[in-house]
Amino acid sequence: MQGYTEAIFRSAINQIGGIDVYYAPFIRIENGEIRKKHLADIAPENNHGLQVVPQVLANSATEMLQVANAVAAMGYTELNWNLGCPFPMVAKRQLGAGLLPHPETIDRILAEFEAQSHLSLSVKMRLGYVSADEVWPVIDVLNRHSIKEIIVHPRIGKQMYNGAADSGVLPDIVAKSAHAVAYNGDTRTAEQAHLLIEKNPTVTHLMIGRGLLCNPFLALEIKGQTLNGYNRRNQLMNFVGTIAERQLDRLQGAGHFLQKMTTYWEYWSAMFDDAHRALKTVKKCRTVEEYTDKVQDIVLGWKMAGTASA
Ligand SMILES: Cc1cc2nc3c(=O)[nH]c(=O)nc-3n(C[C@H](O)[C@H](O)[C@H](O)COP(=O)(O)O)c2cc1C
Repeated sequence: MQGYTEAIFRSAINQIGGIDVYYAPFIRIENGEIRKKHLADIAPENNHGLQVVPQVLANSATEMLQVANAVAAMGYTELNWNLGCPFPMVAKRQLGAGLLPHPETIDRILAEFEAQSHLSLSVKMRLGYVSADEVWPVIDVLNRHSIKEIIVHPRIGKQMYNGAADSGVLPDIVAKSAHAVAYNGDTRTAEQAHLLIEKNPTVTHLMIGRGLLCNPFLALEIKGQTLNGYNRRNQLMNFVGTIAERQLDRLQGAGHFLQKMTTYWEYWSAMFDDAHRALKTVKKCRTVEEYTDKVQDIVLGWKMAGTASA
């Protein structure tokens, strides 16, 4: 998730644990090149101890191969292809979810890619761009190619993030797909994850986006590990503090820093009973020192959501 789950976030959340694989924000070709900051984000020296899969947003084998070669040169053996990004600026150019109504193009790109790259390819996809029926011809095409896994986010592109992800379609996709199927969408609690796995025992992974931003302990909780309140607050303080420290090193000036941390707190505030007041408190900070003090108060003292006492 661009702007959130770059290397700084991945390393910090990895200290909490529970996550097997990190899918990095997508890389695309712009004016024939890959942005240096996108390559730096996945460089091994910035991802110590993390299992990272780079992701590409492309609508031609040439562009995919350019990204594949760059990540292979860093030692990566897997690339994930984004067929899910719903933003109109992307989708209108037949990128991301915008490619889903064009299975013949997907077929052609995969054939060309396979012939020229040794990287193993996984696919992240929505059900369609305009209609959820688009998924079936795409599954047929994917079945003809060598794909490591398909990660299904069961919304259509036109929905953006509205409505609920339709996990009910999963059994049909598992039945029709020749490949391993992973699930993504709206996993916010360990209970939801357990129910999904119970109903779909062959699903190989859960990919979690916003749920992990709202609760960095979610992956641990799904794996049945819980922390007592004291440890949880201390780990959270370390996590939030590490991200702040590294963002402060990276960003020029308090304004940029406070803006960046506010975008995180739009999600992190959900961990507290009075989420609205937590976000408002962070938004009102005008200096780094004020931010540090207020955040310490919130993280170590405020009542956590869903708990009986402070
Ligand atoms: C700000 C933002 C950036 C995202 N960037 C990516 C991306 O680069 N690659 C990707 O596969 N999905 C991306 N997503 C989509 C998420 O991976 C995920 O499919 C979506 O949020 C639904 O899952 P969730 O309910 O677990 O968040 C992004 C989502 C958001 C909100």
